[in-house]
Amino acid sequence: MTSSDTTPAPTLFTWEFATDPYPAYAWLREHAPVHRTTLPSGVEAWLVTRYTDAKQALADARLSKNPAHHDGPEHARGRTGIPGERKAELMTHLLNIDPPDHTRLRRLVSKAFTPRRVAEFAPRVQGLTNDLIDRFAATGEADLIHDFAFPLPIHAICDLLGVPREDQDDFRDWAGMMIRHGGGPRGGVARSVKKMRAYLLDLIHRKRGDLGDDLISGLIRASDHGEHLTENEAAAMAFILLFAGFETTVNLIGNGTLALLTHPDQRDRLQKSLAAGERGLLETGVEELLRYDGPVELATWRFATGPLTLGGQDIAPGDPVLVVLAAADRDPARFEHPDTLDLGRRDNQHLGYGHGIHYCLGAPLARLEGQTALATLLTRLPDLQLGVPVDELRWRGGLIMRGLRTLPVTFTPR
Ligand code: HEM
Repeated sequence: MTSSDTTPAPTLFTWEFATDPYPAYAWLREHAPVHRTTLPSGVEAWLVTRYTDAKQALADARLSKNPAHHDGPEHARGRTGIPGERKAELMTHLLNIDPPDHTRLRRLVSKAFTPRRVAEFAPRVQGLTNDLIDRFAATGEADLIHDFAFPLPIHAICDLLGVPREDQDDFRDWAGMMIRHGGGPRGGVARSVKKMRAYLLDLIHRKRGDLGDDLISGLIRASDHGEHLTENEAAAMAFILLFAGFETTVNLIGNGTLALLTHPDQRDRLQKSLAAGERGLLETGVEELLRYDGPVELATWRFATGPLTLGGQDIAPGDPVLVVLAAADRDPARFEHPDTLDLGRRDNQHLGYGHGIHYCLGAPLARLEGQTALATLLTRLPDLQLGVPVDELRWRGGLIMRGLRTLPVTFTPR
């Protein structure tokens, strides 16, 4: 027996855990790599923490994304954020469906949401980034979540989808409601989802008569060429692009900036490389920030459609399985010195964007936004520093995402 065998099992889902879940995940990886736990909502689920098991689970066709496979009561689904049957409208999106529907919808959206479209969008992301920094640069202080990380992705995705500028503040409010009150679509969140759905359906109607160069027009065009995309599917697609592309990017900018501010050697290294006009360290650096403290702590829900064995553990049909990306990406069996932040890390096949058929569709946009935001911040506000001691920072503590509530910073006014 080694000394670590006597370490007691950690308590999950406390405030301490939300602040720093990594020691608990290290314990699980070693002692209970596929671990059945009761979530704060009361639902029981398996947590998968080792890299190889995580990768296998993400690509395993026996693990369905369709919540109808959950062997749990409807009321429990509501409490977990697992969409129930009755809330189907906007919820029949890519992250809740399996092949063949998933294959068809993903092919359609991939035709409209191409890497080329994202690359052409780079000047707009740079412009948005500059405008946001202009608003607080002269004050010498900011809350980087509220003033920067939050508005950047919402306006970027709205622009990409083709939501007119004058309507984007409504989206900001609805998205704010969802991020603040996360989880299942209830109360204010339910109202926001409803308003967003009505707005998106109306926008799809309007665009049908006047197709433009935007992503929603692209979706309508793609559906008009042979394959079928219902209006509900188009609205659900726009919704998932907003939803999947919003809080994730907020957290990439928030967690990424925090990691840089608390690792001065790595931050200096990046600033020197940017000053020399290089891009290489920025690119590997953003990937490393995703591995080290990524936005998506747990991949979204999966449900066993039949009996299966994962990491030596038998899983029963109907059981929910949650793949802990944050734990897999710190697995010492896969990454050398996994708890060290190394912006130049090679061989960095992290799972921060998932793996398999549900691999992040927005990864090129997320990379563009993350690289632009961090490079511009460090270049324009070179002496940026934390405005409060690190242990005063508060994390949101949601189940799927990992992100800060606020990130106060100070700098020399410009
Ligand atoms: C899927 C991460 C940004 C759109 C996923 C998944 C992960 C992820 C882990 C897979 C979830 C699973 O298998 O359960 C991230 C991270 C981001 C980011 C870390 C930012 C740093 C974006 C953006 C968009 C986007 C900007 C679009 C505007 C999507 C979509 C899916 C997805 C549509 C579902 C794909 C499918 O099911 O086929 N993302 N994402 N993501 N992401 Fe992202």
